[in-house]
Amino acid sequence: MDPKDIVYVNGSFLPRREARVSVEDRGFVFGDGVYEVLRVVTGRLFATRFHNERLERSLAGVKITLKGGDTAASLVEIAKQLLRENDLTRGEATLYIQVTRGATTRTHTFPPPDISPTIYISAARFKPYTELGENGASAITHPDLRWGRCDLKTLNLLPNVLAAQTAKERGAFEAMLIRDGVVTEGTRTNFFGVVNGSLRTHPLDTHILPGITRSVLRDLARDISIEMDETPISAAEIPVLTELFLTGTTTDVMPVVKLDEKPVGSGRPGELTRKLQRVLAESLASGGD
Ligand code: PDD
Repeated sequence: MDPKDIVYVNGSFLPRREARVSVEDRGFVFGDGVYEVLRVVTGRLFATRFHNERLERSLAGVKITLKGGDTAASLVEIAKQLLRENDLTRGEATLYIQVTRGATTRTHTFPPPDISPTIYISAARFKPYTELGENGASAITHPDLRWGRCDLKTLNLLPNVLAAQTAKERGAFEAMLIRDGVVTEGTRTNFFGVVNGSLRTHPLDTHILPGITRSVLRDLARDISIEMDETPISAAEIPVLTELFLTGTTTDVMPVVKLDEKPVGSGRPGELTRKLQRVLAESLASGGD
């Protein structure tokens, strides 16, 4: 825990141990809410505009309306204040923003209009996975058991949690999820592979989260004349993958060198992966807004 550990809950900045939400909160009872995770490098938030837009999209997608002048952008401003409150304006940090449909007597339909969403924001020190990024991580394949709107960043993460735990128990860093015979994404990351020399990833549809790192990387790749082919990797193509990597706010570009106990390609991080790892690292170091 950071020495100060101040969080924001419903209008107040207070020590985490004093922060409270109701047992009737719909986030607690139904997982009825959405969230964002942002990366902070030396006090600067990375790709803020993309996170704002995705938060707005997730809120609209689950029909949660912010109240009292709150907007996705104003929540990000509060998050920035939290960085200062917690002395996290140097080094690396992450910000967590969560909005639920509020607290009310348990009933499946929406609460009455006077109930305000519950807003919780926290900041934490972050240490990148430098060694895994250098040597490569391992992953397992796992059925994708999630719902039909994986494009919304909701709190309903039970299938992700179970798959991530299975990966951990098998000594792997991530589970690569497979639905209808194709690779969708990871439990907390997007997956990319190289098949016959081309960089492939699942297209943006309701089966994956539109990852911010994915978007940033697509633009950075294009700048160095690497195109992403948004044709999903089929399960049948897994044995012929020459490179595999994952992306995410807390994972950057991470090579995957072992899948289900078998080496991927040469069993070492591939050339294309290394190139993309470098361009993202440069963007993180210089960037932010
Ligand atoms: N996870 N896919 C899923 C299912 C995710 O939960 C995430 C992010 C990503 C990568 O998205 P981004 O590049 O915007 O981080 C893909 C966050 C970090 C989390 O749940 O902690």
